Amino acid sequence: MIKFKNEIPFVEDTSLNNIIGVCETPFYIYSQEIITKKVEMTKKILGDNIFFSVKSNSNQAILKLMNLLNIGADVVSIGELKRSLSAGFSPNKIIFEGVGKSKEDLMYAIQKNIRLINTESLEEIKLIQNLALEKNKNVNIGVRLNPNIDGGTISKISTGKKTDKFGIEITEIENIVNLISNCNNLNLIGISCHIGSQISNIEAYKNTFIEMKKAADKFTSLGINIKHVDLGGGFHIQYNKADPKFKIEDLKRELDSCFGSSIYELSFEPGRYLIAEAGILVTRIINTKQNGGVNYLIVDAGMNTLIRPAMYNAHHEIEPLIKKNVNSETYTVAGPICESSDIFVKNISLPKQIMGDILFIKNTGAYGKVMSSTYNTRSLPSEVLVNKDNFAMIYIPNKIEKDIEEDIIPSWL
Ligand code: LLP
Repeated sequence: MIKFKNEIPFVEDTSLNNIIGVCETPFYIYSQEIITKKVEMTKKILGDNIFFSVKSNSNQAILKLMNLLNIGADVVSIGELKRSLSAGFSPNKIIFEGVGKSKEDLMYAIQKNIRLINTESLEEIKLIQNLALEKNKNVNIGVRLNPNIDGGTISKISTGKKTDKFGIEITEIENIVNLISNCNNLNLIGISCHIGSQISNIEAYKNTFIEMKKAADKFTSLGINIKHVDLGGGFHIQYNKADPKFKIEDLKRELDSCFGSSIYELSFEPGRYLIAEAGILVTRIINTKQNGGVNYLIVDAGMNTLIRPAMYNAHHEIEPLIKKNVNSETYTVAGPICESSDIFVKNISLPKQIMGDILFIKNTGAYGKVMSSTYNTRSLPSEVLVNKDNFAMIYIPNKIEKDIEEDIIPSWL
């Protein structure tokens, strides 16, 4: 994402020095051009029925861009639904997923006439029927099925096995059909699934497609006219050289061989694939030290800014902003948080760095800022969007004093 012109780092046609001049580290930068290209490439291969998984990056500037690129939104909470509407998505381009939707969430979605609510249990179907009846509305629903497939990803982001909390078991199809026949306000028009995130195993996708095609055919044979088959997200991106490569063309081949000329309208819910590579996290070295022979660079971003390395052992590549012609050293890059897990990467080779130098952490456009927190009473990171030679701050965090003021000390203390 960063290109050097005469040793000066650029994102698109914007010099990073200009951004660093006005934005305090740590902050995320996104490239509009990279997002646009990835969305267009994905649509070209998988078709227009793409619903951006808002949880991966829910900044409204990003959502507005996704809307302008003519894709829909996949939301998993009332907050994400409100954000998507406020960023300009029309309700009929929003699908609502999630294993835990409250009565209020469902009521809001029904009132807004969104495209589809994907239900995750028989109980939830009954609840939606009652709410729809109360409002005297007909509601389009889908059911998220659990195809019992292991996507081979890390267990913390695997969702497709029957012991995972997600979806309804495929063996329940007859029970779903019986229930729906008594739900006069519901139109069951789709089925969906999502077997997990960061999945590169094409065989797992293939098996999922086969199960979903069988399930759609079974609903149809039982008299339910399934129109849409939503095959989820989870497409893999390469975070570092050791990561396997994933080609969306391989997935498309399996898709065609499974669904061929079937009548179902296919859709997808990618998040990471559309935006991860379009983001970097810029951070400043605030301390250097050696402990037990380990050469530490302590930076101002921490696990509160980007939690993926601490939480999933994710390995994001890190590079220095300034190309220096000096000897390289082996470094461990760590954040300022008081936990030993607050390490971004161990033993990487970088040209000698000193306090004040700037590093950037790559492929952080997805599940970066959205998972950040104020842990250790530190500010949230800012966000910047670059468009050619233009850039804009798209999120400026509260000053930490404002957060401190929000605590309420009870009268008895
Ligand atoms: N659809 C559903 C129902 C999902 O639960 C998810 C992600 C997606 C779509 C989008 O998945 P994607 O295409 O982005 O892989 N925080 C983790 C990832 C958690 C993903 C949760 N569900 C990480 O940083 O790797």
